[in-house]
Amino acid sequence: MSKNIFLLLLSVVFAGHLFAQLPKIVNIETKNTILLYRVGQDQKLIQSYLGNKLFQPGEYDKLKAGKFEAYITAGTSNLFEPSIRVKHADNNPSLDLQYESHKIVKQDDDVTLTTIKMIDPQYPFEVTLFFKAYYNEDVIEEWTEIKHKEKKPVVLYNYASSTLHFDAKNYWLTQFHGNWAEEMRMQESQLTSGIKIIDSKLGTRAHMYQTPVFYLSLNEKSNENTGELIAGTLGWSGNFQFTFEIDERNNLRVISGINPYASEYKLEPEKVFKTPSFIFTYSNSGKGLASRNMHQWARKYGILDGDKPRLTLLNNWETTYFSFNEEKLAGLFDDAVKLGVDLFLLDDGWFANKYPRNNDNAGLGDWEENKAKLPGGIDALIKAAQQKGSKFGIWIEPEMVNPKSELYEKHPDWIIKLPNRSENYYRNQLVLDLTNPQVQDFVFGVVDNLMTKHPEIAFIKWDCNRMITNGYSPYLKENQSHLYIDYVNSLYKVFDRMRQKYPHLPIMLCSGGGGRVDYGALKYFTEFWPSDNTDGLERVFIQWGYSNFYPSITSCNHITSWGKQSLKFRTDVAMMGKMGYDIPVKHMTDQELKFSQNAVANYKRLNNTIWFGDLFRLVSPYDESRAVLMYVNTEKNKAVLFSYTLNPRYGEFFQKVRLQGLDAAKMYKVEETNINLRQTFMESGKVFSGDFLMKVGLEVSANNSLNSVVLEITEVK
Ligand code: GLA
Repeated sequence: MSKNIFLLLLSVVFAGHLFAQLPKIVNIETKNTILLYRVGQDQKLIQSYLGNKLFQPGEYDKLKAGKFEAYITAGTSNLFEPSIRVKHADNNPSLDLQYESHKIVKQDDDVTLTTIKMIDPQYPFEVTLFFKAYYNEDVIEEWTEIKHKEKKPVVLYNYASSTLHFDAKNYWLTQFHGNWAEEMRMQESQLTSGIKIIDSKLGTRAHMYQTPVFYLSLNEKSNENTGELIAGTLGWSGNFQFTFEIDERNNLRVISGINPYASEYKLEPEKVFKTPSFIFTYSNSGKGLASRNMHQWARKYGILDGDKPRLTLLNNWETTYFSFNEEKLAGLFDDAVKLGVDLFLLDDGWFANKYPRNNDNAGLGDWEENKAKLPGGIDALIKAAQQKGSKFGIWIEPEMVNPKSELYEKHPDWIIKLPNRSENYYRNQLVLDLTNPQVQDFVFGVVDNLMTKHPEIAFIKWDCNRMITNGYSPYLKENQSHLYIDYVNSLYKVFDRMRQKYPHLPIMLCSGGGGRVDYGALKYFTEFWPSDNTDGLERVFIQWGYSNFYPSITSCNHITSWGKQSLKFRTDVAMMGKMGYDIPVKHMTDQELKFSQNAVANYKRLNNTIWFGDLFRLVSPYDESRAVLMYVNTEKNKAVLFSYTLNPRYGEFFQKVRLQGLDAAKMYKVEETNINLRQTFMESGKVFSGDFLMKVGLEVSANNSLNSVVLEITEVK
């Protein structure tokens, strides 16, 4: 037996022993945070504390049990929003949950899994709460499993992943909302008595209007470096719901999980209903720390290969749209090589023959190369790209179908639509019924066929361009209200299969822009597409929004012709993430091409700091007409600062900016990089102490509109 397994077993046995002896207190602990449960009257599980750890652990005994039920049941004495509501096999609509046992398993040096089991004294019905504590990242992941042994199915109406209670004076909620091309707009408001719900009912492309992330600030509004808050997110690519309810005593309960809307679930005896994970971090030093915790967690646990490098690329979508052929593409492969990026990504339009994919109203579902555009097929493209020195990647949208397609003709029963109403289109397409195992095979097959036939494919962009309307699954028959939940779980099954066979293939998660960005999906993906809007100015806000919860290494930022800003501005914006291009390189002037080649080279020098460094947001574009942020690597010997001036008013002056995250004792050389034509930062080349940079600061912003500065900050010894 290996030493680790032995230690692990020992810790299970020890926890079991502990549980038999001690009063019923369950601690879920990370480096700085503790979530404490206690068994109160009537064996109820009560949340008695969530916050910073106390210096003296003995003092936790002084905490009163209180009344904050850990998982609130409906149908008995509760008068507010429940965590769970069920109807038993005998039609009884009540549930009573009592603590039964708990178990603590230390999975490794960082991760501890705590499970708390509760049972209904009247029914063979149990709920187990799971808490995974990530010690070093200060992150807690929670989910719930529901099971019963009643004689017939039990109907679940509500089934939260997490319930957290707070007793602050005031509560401030920061939410992120939007639409196509305007993703992740940040909005902060004070919660008032009653319920505030943030949710999605879209089914697929589910985050088009609301993203499943929030900050909840306690007592006062928090800012980047001060304030007490939690940052929370639900790892679920479908309908989600966050409910914030303030009761008559000004206590707040936050219930997070799958949206119960139109989703009552018939649970068969002995089957387990597992909810998605709610992931949160607590910070008493503002939003900046909360984001850094989330980023660290995500790179290690939340996204695929978060500690590995990413590929820079040239995409053809905005250059060609659907109109290309082998010759045109060959020219673009040359452009990719000219720019110095790693890969060429072929977007939509390469497939379907009977109904060629020449625009968005035909061909979706027919995943064979279009012979007219690509007589040599994908093989010829890969060969040509490789000969020129570029890797090759490809776009797919396997969950969808155009009515004008062979797939639609062959399998009308594979489509989500009402049997007795006319079809409802969005982007001329319909959603496949992924709850059907045959459809799951088909969708998996889209990737698998491509990869089996063309193992040299080095990158995939997985798109999903519409939501579910007229929701009805021919496969689910009488269980129609399972559709929204089963769809997402089926999707994860397909992703699982895909990752078992292709564990490290880089795949971008795209959904008509950023319509599907969450940690349920991201653990299968290396990156995501934040928005189709690539206007440099808009992107400052969009990427700023995502940066609150997702690390820069996941954010695909492309330089395109969309924005009216200078090429330098758009390039600098794309650099704060995973840089790529989607621009006609042949229209660039010599000078623009030279600047871009240089930018790619600079990016390759700086990308480790941007991808793996700690992010410090220094000036918010929501506060001033500029945005300033920086990344600092773990050793604190390299940092990159980005400053974007937006549209300041006449006479609006920018103050110096104090840097953050450096080592006060170190000396740093500050150099402007990515310079186009002329230098903007006048102190370029000077050496400062970290102390100076963080106490006095630098004049990092240009005053004129739509100007940007990138500073490379390097320790000198
Ligand atoms: C979606 C994506 C775009 C592009 C098109 C292709 O809109 O967000 O990036 O791939 O589909 O049709």
